[in-house]
Amino acid sequence: MENTSPLIDPFGRTVDYLRVSVTDRCDFRCVYCMAEDMTFLPKRDLLTLEELDRLCSAFVARGVKKLRLTGGEPLVRKNIMQLVRSLSRHLESGQLEELTLTTNGSQLARYAEELAACGVKRVNVSIDTLDREKFQKITRWGQLGKVMEGLEAARKAGLAVKINAVALKGVNEFEIEEMMRWAHGEGFDLTLIETMPLGEIEEDRTDQYLPLSLVRQRLEETFTLSDIAHKTGGPARYVEVAETGGRLGFITPLTHNFCESCNRVRLTCTGTLYMCLGQDDAADLRAPLRASEGDKLLFDAIDEAIGRKPKGHDFIIERPGEAPAVSRHMSLTGG
Ligand code: 5AD
Ligand code: SF4
Repeated sequence: MENTSPLIDPFGRTVDYLRVSVTDRCDFRCVYCMAEDMTFLPKRDLLTLEELDRLCSAFVARGVKKLRLTGGEPLVRKNIMQLVRSLSRHLESGQLEELTLTTNGSQLARYAEELAACGVKRVNVSIDTLDREKFQKITRWGQLGKVMEGLEAARKAGLAVKINAVALKGVNEFEIEEMMRWAHGEGFDLTLIETMPLGEIEEDRTDQYLPLSLVRQRLEETFTLSDIAHKTGGPARYVEVAETGGRLGFITPLTHNFCESCNRVRLTCTGTLYMCLGQDDAADLRAPLRASEGDKLLFDAIDEAIGRKPKGHDFIIERPGEAPAVSRHMSLTGG
């Protein structure tokens, strides 16, 4: 008999959302995410696409309803569409409710159509500014024009788009209103994210940190924001903006703790499962995956890991010169 019992952690939270970082590589080098000369995982450490599929499918068998592919940049992983196509069988069977991805949009023009054909309904695209030069400064290697082409392709393919923007003090701080008007005008949701202390970067995070409580306060001088119950399975809290008719989300790990409703875990491209974005504890699933063809060992390892899911993170923005709260980069575990 296949084990189909749901994944419930020690705090009674059901884990039905898996985020999978399919590669730690990226074609951008966002200043808040990566150092410019990053050392990436050696290719031999990566799980194959077949192994990733087996792992994801094990989680689906155990009640995961929502899968999000992230990275790094998921669309730079070689043959990534092979994995998407294969995972889409769980959408067809109805076991999986949603298959989606978080992308920087650089390759979206190429893949939007195929993603939609595989049953992907929406994508999160990260854009922190609409100013071409600033975009290049933030991403170091990115081109806004390419991302805009990606958005157009997504629209044509019928994919719903949510824009993710990291709020950066002194960088896009006074552009947020403009970004919101643009996103809502295009029919996109916009979600703002506070910088989280993940991994060593060249810049000082204290200088980057912009509390969203302040951003909201400023927006409320011009706009009418009303809290709404809209949920996408993630940690964002949404408001509706009366003047634009659009939705605005806030992801506030630092000013508002969202752990009590956490329903997710994160898998890396080497088969390491992180039970919390803000904690170092992890479980290796690669060994049990490779140890046998059946899934018994894998299920045991997953159960053991879920049994260790911590109550929450304890992010604080480090004081100047201090090490980040978590030493791995976001590009390893995905957003
Ligand atoms: N803090 C907050 N957000 C981050 N992202 C990457 N690194 C960080 C960080 N340290 C964002 C990206 C993307 C999402 C996956 O996470 O901009 O929108
Ligand atoms: Fe790449 Fe996303 Fe990190 Fe930017 S934030 S470097 S796009 S993984």
